[in-house]
Amino acid sequence: MSDSIPRRFRTDDKGTFGHHTATVRWPILVQNMVDDMQLQLANIKDKESVAFKQGSEILQQLSQLRQEILNDSILRPFTEREIEIANIPASFNEYFSIHHSEKLSWIASEWLFTEVYLYRRVNVIFANYDNWENYDIFNNLKQSTFQASKFGVIELAMRYKNLLPEFQKFKLADDKNNTDLGLLKTIFKEFIEISLWGNATDLSLLTNATLEDIKSIQGAKARQDSESKIVVNDTDSVWLDLLNLYTNANGDKIRIDFVLDNSGFELYADLVFAGFLLQTGLADTCVFHAKDIPYMVSDVMVKDLDILSNDLCDSSFFYPDAIAESDKADLQILNFFADEIKTFIRSGKLLIKTDSFWTTDLDYWNIAPSENKYHGDIIYKDLLESDLVIFKGDLNYRKLTGDRTWDRTTPWSTAIGPMASNGIKSLSLRTCKADVQVALPPGLDEKFTQEWEIDHPGNGSWWCSSGKWAVICYSNGKD
Ligand code: F6P
Ligand code: MG
Repeated sequence: MSDSIPRRFRTDDKGTFGHHTATVRWPILVQNMVDDMQLQLANIKDKESVAFKQGSEILQQLSQLRQEILNDSILRPFTEREIEIANIPASFNEYFSIHHSEKLSWIASEWLFTEVYLYRRVNVIFANYDNWENYDIFNNLKQSTFQASKFGVIELAMRYKNLLPEFQKFKLADDKNNTDLGLLKTIFKEFIEISLWGNATDLSLLTNATLEDIKSIQGAKARQDSESKIVVNDTDSVWLDLLNLYTNANGDKIRIDFVLDNSGFELYADLVFAGFLLQTGLADTCVFHAKDIPYMVSDVMVKDLDILSNDLCDSSFFYPDAIAESDKADLQILNFFADEIKTFIRSGKLLIKTDSFWTTDLDYWNIAPSENKYHGDIIYKDLLESDLVIFKGDLNYRKLTGDRTWDRTTPWSTAIGPMASNGIKSLSLRTCKADVQVALPPGLDEKFTQEWEIDHPGNGSWWCSSGKWAVICYSNGKD
């Protein structure tokens, strides 16, 4: 590794959000899983059943895992059997081989690796039991938080429906250069921010959120107030490239990819953004990339898209009590948007797929032809076909930048390494929830750190782990 590439953040970097995450947040997250399992077991009537017995063992193993973290135990490689039953990519054990001379423990290891490893360990526990192997331990939380997002969900569907006739004018225009491109840009800006701030609803950070908390981060007013909180904003550059495609498409199909992050409201906001792109003709197809295992609490799995569209048309989901006359218009609007999604899927305009690459420990510098063991090469080839790849959320940002201890003014093109020049056009939409932060103008980090310090003594640098700021970072892949 060249001297100019800094090391990665570690869980023993005292005073960092990563250290706080490993010591405080992970035990809570695993405890939440234990609580969920307890609830599931209480709901099983036949206490002699295989499901109950297996579930009890899972519960015990989750508690042990929590204890391992609290004890700062040594991290162990996966066993042959675990690798087989849970299809664990060999990259994890290779990592242990490469780092064999280090004593890696939960609180003395690279943050990114150990966080990803944690979710693999959880997955192995479930994969070992046939009654539970497909159980998504985070499903209840994903669903209840989406339910609590009702107001934001209705507001966005209404906005989308009202603007749809405008969208379609752009799509149907014979001469695209003769449309109101200023208006299209304004709407684009609004919808990119919808997708961006959708990332503020991350269940790993919102474990105790109230309905009011959720409302306060999801509405139009919240987005307006938050505009000044976008500390790096490359919207103009991405817009120019998309506009160029839109006005000069010459019949070429425009494809936009989303490397998804969270389920529920964020996925919904991404669908709203994708709907805007498809209905205006800024895109002909959108490809969604989801995770293959329950991951980082709220990340989207393929099944979550179906669940979400069913939730939208199930009147009892958002209105579990009697439906008032005044709710009927809202229900109609939710049905309308569910139909939009289903139509996009049926017509092949919206695709969702998954690959184990997204849940390996590898960062995105491995999206390269030379990475031919864990699908980095396959993903690279696939994403090259896309006109724009949108990486949603914090973890994707950490993987783009390698979760390294970059100076916070490091240019984006430096921090994303090969992704800056490999031909893939990439856009990171991230609300900031981790220590790694780059591309800031000089002086800004110092200013925010000082300000954050006032209410958070000793933790000033955590302003960029609070989820209150965001970035829109673009690379045309040709640096
Ligand atoms: O940084 C805190 C954290 O919870 C990490 O554990 C993880 O990288 C991330 O946030 C999850 O956020 P997102 O859902 O935006 O990727
Ligand atoms: Mg996530």
